Amino acid sequence: MKPKLFIILSLLTAFVVVWGLSFADSDGDDDKNMRLWSRTTGVSPNNNILYQQECGSCHFAYQAGLLPEQSWRAIMTQLDEHFDENAELDPQEHKEILNYLTNNSADKSNARRSRHIMRSLSPNQAPLRITNIPYIKKEHREIPARLITGNPKVSSLSNCDNCHQNAAQGSFSENAIKIPGYGKWDD
Ligand code: HEC
Ligand code: HEC
Repeated sequence: MKPKLFIILSLLTAFVVVWGLSFADSDGDDDKNMRLWSRTTGVSPNNNILYQQECGSCHFAYQAGLLPEQSWRAIMTQLDEHFDENAELDPQEHKEILNYLTNNSADKSNARRSRHIMRSLSPNQAPLRITNIPYIKKEHREIPARLITGNPKVSSLSNCDNCHQNAAQGSFSENAIKIPGYGKWDD
């Protein structure tokens, strides 16, 4: 190898290494920002009005970042038999909502809760319920059934916003939980 070429190659290598390190560093910063941010917003809030209206009329409008893409696809292909309800949409609305959900699903989000959700699922696992995700089940395992299914003011763990006061903002933080008929949840 010619000495000149060697020097150029060494400089290039050094440059790439430094460049890579600077990336690692900014990752750390992102993580810090993410931690700050996720204290108030654990998943990215909804920003699609059609979704909010159509899928938030019977229950809490679950944020897209609470389920992986494959789950949303499965849910959206069986809306005529949606948990014993008919939740069918016209084709145009169906398309917009499916796009919205799959573009913002948990596997594509960097939000803290979405990452926890993805980590707790095995590859290709696509639950139809958020409440069937291992991470979500684990987080609620200490709550006695009488405060959920046995509680007429809640009746189902699916009603996130009954207990999580900032659920609509995408925040499920432990310091904003109040179980109806029970009060503040202290660990
Ligand atoms: C006609 C009423 C109705 C509409 C409209 C509706 N749903 Fe539902 N959905 C239900 C019922 C009922 C359940 C079961 C709730 C329970 O078990 O407490 C449910 C449950 C769910 C769950 C699982 C919640 C859990 O337990 O984790 C998801 C996700 C969901 N719906 C998504 C959607 C989406 C997406 C749309 C819009 C395309 C939609 N829903 C529209 C009635 C509806
Ligand atoms: C009956 C009230 C209730 C309902 C309904 C409920 N949660 Fe919770 N959730 C809690 C309580 C209480 C805790 C804290 C449990 C503990 O610390 O042992 C919690 C914890 C969590 C956590 C972990 C919080 C943390 O800081 O570690 C997440 C995430 C969460 N819930 C999401 C959800 C989602 C999503 C839904 C709806 C699909 C939901 N919850 C429905 C009461 C509820």
